[in-house]
Amino acid sequence: MRKKIALIGGGQIGQILAMLAAQKELGDIVILDIPELENPAKGKALDLMEMAPHGNYDANITGTSDYKDIAGADVVIVTAGKPRQAGMTREDLLAVNLDIITKVAAGVKANAPEAFCIIVTNPLDAMVYAFYKLTGFPKSRVIGMAGTLDTARWRAFIAMELGVSVTDVAGTVLGGHGPDMVPLPRLTTVGGVPLTDIAAKEQIDRLATRTREAGTEIVKLFGKGSAFFSPAWSAIVIAESYLKDKRRVLPCAALCEGEYGVQGLFIGVPCLVGAKGMEKIYEIKLDDGEKAMLQKTIGVVRKTVEETKL
Ligand code: APR
Repeated sequence: MRKKIALIGGGQIGQILAMLAAQKELGDIVILDIPELENPAKGKALDLMEMAPHGNYDANITGTSDYKDIAGADVVIVTAGKPRQAGMTREDLLAVNLDIITKVAAGVKANAPEAFCIIVTNPLDAMVYAFYKLTGFPKSRVIGMAGTLDTARWRAFIAMELGVSVTDVAGTVLGGHGPDMVPLPRLTTVGGVPLTDIAAKEQIDRLATRTREAGTEIVKLFGKGSAFFSPAWSAIVIAESYLKDKRRVLPCAALCEGEYGVQGLFIGVPCLVGAKGMEKIYEIKLDDGEKAMLQKTIGVVRKTVEETKL
């Protein structure tokens, strides 16, 4: 039997998620949106069914506003919520998106209680925490997408600047999904060569700053709404690792219970994602400067999480 992927939110990211999941034949796909947008969700699903002959995939893709239709989902990806507009921080979305996540958590808990859940809605670190608290799902089955995207941006900017294949750029970004996130130049390599050996400090600092502000750079360019291609791919990478037990080590927002000295918060850390979900958090031996930066981002996440009052 095919796997089932439920996409909660059929907007900009949701529709790209549906396309990527179909093209990768991850399973059958349900796009769920609010009742007022049930028809557009159905329309997007039908459009993707009609793309299948050329896309060369077999997947049943449907649109709905009824949570009963996500029953038995193996993976749930949540993008329901408002995106940022120019001039807004992710934290500005807290109240409106907390309300939405509360409804989504109830719907998922009642209808897909066994699903592996990937949260994309911003402010991400607080929304994944809220979803975890509200569903009561185990920490292995609730994960936030952010670090996978932040690392993709870090790798992309390095490849663009150095004129090398992005495939050969390896590295990671820790911490919250905001301007205090922590790219780790010391542990970044280009074809095995340390980044710090081939790029000047000021160049690296500039790339790190661009990474921290990458979401905002896109928001400014769009004028309306936020990034959607790269967030969608990042979530699909996590979903695929779970569904195919690829056991990839991906930076995700995971519940830390002592790791990195964090207690009870979702923070971007390297996670092993396999058939049992978020199976393991890897701890990196950080130097003092990196530790200080991580503490700062943890403080920001804690403050936003406290505002959820959960
Ligand atoms: N249930 C299901 N869907 C909902 C709900 C809900 N309770 N509330 C809102 N939605 C839907 C909206 O109707 C919309 O179709 O979520 C969709 C969000 O789509 P967009 O507005 O296009 O936003 P998008 O760019 O996809 O971003 C979604 O991800 O990266 C974050 O900051 C971003 O919080 C935002 C989220």
